[in-house]
Amino acid sequence: MSLAFLDRPVLGIETSCDETSAAVTLGSRVLSNIVSSQIDLHRKWGGVVPEMAARAHVEAILPVLDEALAGAGLTLAGIGAVAVTNRPGLVGALSVGVTSAKALAFDRGLPLLGVHHLEGHLLSPLADPASHNAFPMLALVVSGGHTELVHVAEPGAYRIVAETLDDAAGEAFDKSARLLGLGYPGGRAIQEAAAGGDPKRYALPRALPGDSAHFSFSGLKTAVLRLVEKEADRLSVGDAAASVQAAIVDSLVHKAASALEAQPYRALALVGGVAANTSLRTALAAEADRAGVGFFAPALDMCTDNAAMIALSGSLRLAAGERHGWDLDCEANAPLPAPFVLPEA
Ligand code: KG4
Ligand code: ZN
Repeated sequence: MSLAFLDRPVLGIETSCDETSAAVTLGSRVLSNIVSSQIDLHRKWGGVVPEMAARAHVEAILPVLDEALAGAGLTLAGIGAVAVTNRPGLVGALSVGVTSAKALAFDRGLPLLGVHHLEGHLLSPLADPASHNAFPMLALVVSGGHTELVHVAEPGAYRIVAETLDDAAGEAFDKSARLLGLGYPGGRAIQEAAAGGDPKRYALPRALPGDSAHFSFSGLKTAVLRLVEKEADRLSVGDAAASVQAAIVDSLVHKAASALEAQPYRALALVGGVAANTSLRTALAAEADRAGVGFFAPALDMCTDNAAMIALSGSLRLAAGERHGWDLDCEANAPLPAPFVLPEA
């Protein structure tokens, strides 16, 4: 399949949660991708505080935009369109990006496009041109808010084949980390504490092992709580972290493997913040190998929230003629977008 990207540089903006990000792409090439993280700001509260996030975006957005343009070796005059995450997310946070995008697009007379955050994650593998011919693709989206297996027939055409019935995988990492006293955000902390730990030391549940295609992680959280209470001072945090990581990775890999068997796919993609997890990357790559399909896991800075993935998906929709007006709104919740029509290549 030859994908049609906009033939001019696209400025992408992402402020849906706790990263302020701006990026410039041209075709499927990422010219710059600047991310300013608010993790330090939210750490002492153990999670993202929406009002503080919005204010921090206001402070960071102009320098981040400047840096993204400079990194791409461009000025605003060289930009062809502006793509911005407008859904789903924290509305106060989203509105900082959307207002900035509108102001820039209006000032420069550029097309404006609102992008669905999840579509951004789903299409993040497109930064690697080898992925352009890898459809249909099965994408495992794992982040702080999402755990889904998505059938991607082609960019724009999505069907959710499995989802979590309760917590997201990232939440399972974050909540377990808090119970183990490992702080926030939990995914990376668990990965680091798990290095050298024994993943078989503590038996933790793998939920819905049977026929269900879906995921469930709330039982794991309860089991970790019980473990911490039962072991008290005797608890080996390293072994517990390794056991938690193994439980989450096993569940994700098991469901992804079943979904790969259910239908013919050309590739498996691993996207979203939890895709930064080394153990998950290794296990899923092996599973793709076993199934004889390609494997795509974006570079780490394109796994956690970033504007490059927003510019890439925006570029495809812009090339297909999609535009939004100055009344573009922010939405806290939104279903995956409808397919777009690819122009004749
Ligand atoms: O995609 P993302 O940056 O933001 C959302 O849209 O949610 O994902 C954030 C999530 C957090 O739950 C964080 O703990 C998790 O990704 N995460 C990881 C790792 N790095 C980030 N989880 C496991 N292992 C990691 N190395
Ligand atoms: Zn995300």
